[in-house]
Amino acid sequence: MPASSTRPVGGGKLGHRLAHEVEAPMPVGLAERFVCWYCPPEGVVLDPFCGTGTTLHAAKQHGRRGIGCDVRADQVDLARRRLATVTPALL
Ligand SMILES: C[S@@+](CC[C@H](N)C(=O)[O-])C[C@H]1O[C@@H](n2cnc3c(N)ncnc32)[C@H](O)[C@@H]1O
Repeated sequence: MPASSTRPVGGGKLGHRLAHEVEAPMPVGLAERFVCWYCPPEGVVLDPFCGTGTTLHAAKQHGRRGIGCDVRADQVDLARRRLATVTPALL
């Protein structure tokens, strides 16, 4: 069995647990900075390559609305499942 199938990227700690179901998890903290810097509160974040929804996760968490697209249906499904777990932070 190849090592990649037994060891998740970043030891499984690089992003949301659902993001580790695919090959490119991204830390939500990275997306949070850009969302907060460049989108006003209650603004809309567009991620046309949303993957597992890290950017949309950050947007929801920080009171922004989000629109995501992805060519892969499995990614969209993961993003939907993930976003259902995100609660906006109290400001
Ligand atoms: C690195 S991931 C994006 C990560 C994402 N921005 C996040 O916040 O987690 C890149 C995504 O782009 C998608 N993609 C590639 N070509 C595309 C296309 N032509 N239209 C829409 N999505 C595409 C891939 O399926 C992949 O999920």
